[in-house]
Amino acid sequence: MYIDDARARAEALRQSGSAVILAIETSCDETSAAVIRAGRDILSNVVATQIPLHRRFGGVVPEIASRAHVESINTVIDQAIGEAGTTLDAVDAIAVTAGPGLVGALLIGVNTAKALAFALRKPLIPVHHIDAHISANYLAHLRLEPPFVCLIVSGGHSHIALCEAYGEYRLLGQTLDDAAGEAFDKAARVLGLPYPGGPALDALAEGGNAGALTLPRAKTEGEYNFSFSGLKTAFIQLKRKGVLDAVRPEDAAASFREAVCQPLVGKTIAAAREANGDRGERLPVALAGGVAANARLRELFAAETTRRGMRMYMPPLSLCTDNAAMVGSAAYYQLMRGNIADMTLNAEPNRALAAI
Ligand code: KG4
Ligand code: ZN
Repeated sequence: MYIDDARARAEALRQSGSAVILAIETSCDETSAAVIRAGRDILSNVVATQIPLHRRFGGVVPEIASRAHVESINTVIDQAIGEAGTTLDAVDAIAVTAGPGLVGALLIGVNTAKALAFALRKPLIPVHHIDAHISANYLAHLRLEPPFVCLIVSGGHSHIALCEAYGEYRLLGQTLDDAAGEAFDKAARVLGLPYPGGPALDALAEGGNAGALTLPRAKTEGEYNFSFSGLKTAFIQLKRKGVLDAVRPEDAAASFREAVCQPLVGKTIAAAREANGDRGERLPVALAGGVAANARLRELFAAETTRRGMRMYMPPLSLCTDNAAMVGSAAYYQLMRGNIADMTLNAEPNRALAAI
């Protein structure tokens, strides 16, 4: 039986503490494969982006994303294996993002990983996309170990989580409506910027005056929760009333960026301080997710944490947005906890954080 072989191999790897993992990521619009040693060492990380395919539609088109994943997944895996100087036979386990994400896109990665794991009789490790984003920090910062507090901000998520142990999280706060990346993408549309809007707005904001527009900061239920829908609506209203067009676009972009970044950083620090009090220790804080590439968020996060003497970590830009290296890192720690899947593994588009 496949699962008996896989369990025996997984147990041997767990005892040895070492594993070379082929990881696959297809949750949204990047097809990626990576080979990672022992959760920390990137042997290869190949990312085939679909941005040019989706640009003329102004956003990710799920059917186009799935099709593009099918077309490039095998080439991307071959390239990752080749660049790592290894072979499919020599890798110890296969990991894949099981969710959350676009169901059709996830299915391409999940089915590819299942086929490889079954044919090679290697353990199959399902990875939660948020666990992967957080684990990008382990690849970049070899000294970082749990516990720490992490702000995860992407196109679909805005969470503050306490990472209690490898692969174990407690949710401290989250957005009550839009995710930060979603808010950036919508504001970018209002400003007429091309997809992907977040990075375009960020670049435009660099030359702008963040005090040019007065934008609302949401009052939320729950001290460490976020809300960005009121801000988004206010921005759209300013456009309708012609107020946005009366200021320089870079000033509008900078004002919006500031209104998103300030609560993200402020609430993360407040949540970390409370967690410190609970635990009687000073926890490091980390950033993760696509929006962690935002220049102002990085600057504010670094300045505010350093000012308070907090240790802080963030991934390099290349590991903030979706990539398979971060999946390989998270997978290693899941393997060490004995979390492997059998051939019933399915894509879970709404996989809850509690399901990590
Ligand atoms: O983590 P990610 O690659 O995919 C998801 O898991 O969603 O994040 C993508 C999101 C998009 O909303 C994109 O606009 C945003 O991250 N993003 C940025 C920046 N780079 C990516 N938002 C603001 N500033 C950036 N520099
Ligand atoms: Zn992501």
